[in-house]
Amino acid sequence: MRYLTNLQPLKLTVVASLVLTATLSVSAIAEGPTPAEQAQATADTRQGLFKIIGRYFGPIVGMARGQIPYDAAVVEYNASKINQLASMSTDLFSKDTSEFDLETGALPGIWKNQDDFNAKAATLVETSAALAAAASEGKGPAMKAFGKVGGACKGCHDDYRQQD
Ligand code: HEC
Repeated sequence: MRYLTNLQPLKLTVVASLVLTATLSVSAIAEGPTPAEQAQATADTRQGLFKIIGRYFGPIVGMARGQIPYDAAVVEYNASKINQLASMSTDLFSKDTSEFDLETGALPGIWKNQDDFNAKAATLVETSAALAAAASEGKGPAMKAFGKVGGACKGCHDDYRQQD
């Protein structure tokens, strides 16, 4: 009984510190990232998407240049991945980040001409689907279809990506 009463204040301290910790973390969540940090996270995410697109694109470039042998299965697989990723691209640009000073290659024109930007993204969706379909027809037809995929990348980059 004696040390139960002794324990009581200790328990309260534990409870109090738990409550304090919870309050602190809640306020940390409430403060959260700043709008600029959120915008940079959005930019990082869309850059990540294009990095992945680039990963799937690269081997087909190698085949086009004759650096690696033509492989219909790889072309079909990679083109269908590019197709899926391209379909996500407009979602990642739905948030206008142009008012922030970010590390980004995205030009502000994207959000002034969003319909045109989305149309250019749709061109990548269509041309990559056509490439996946053409892969089994052999290198000639596949590379012709691949040329249109490359054209879709360039068509958007020319207008909406900062030139190096
Ligand atoms: C609808 C427009 C659009 C299309 C289509 C498009 N891109 Fe991009 N791409 C962009 C924009 C905008 C950026 C800059 C993104 C940023 O920095 O926020 C970019 C950035 C990139 C980057 C740099 C990513 C990084 O490391 O920051 C690569 C690589 C890339 N694109 C590859 C491609 C390839 C390959 C294709 C075609 C298969 C393609 N893109 C098609 C608009 C497009």
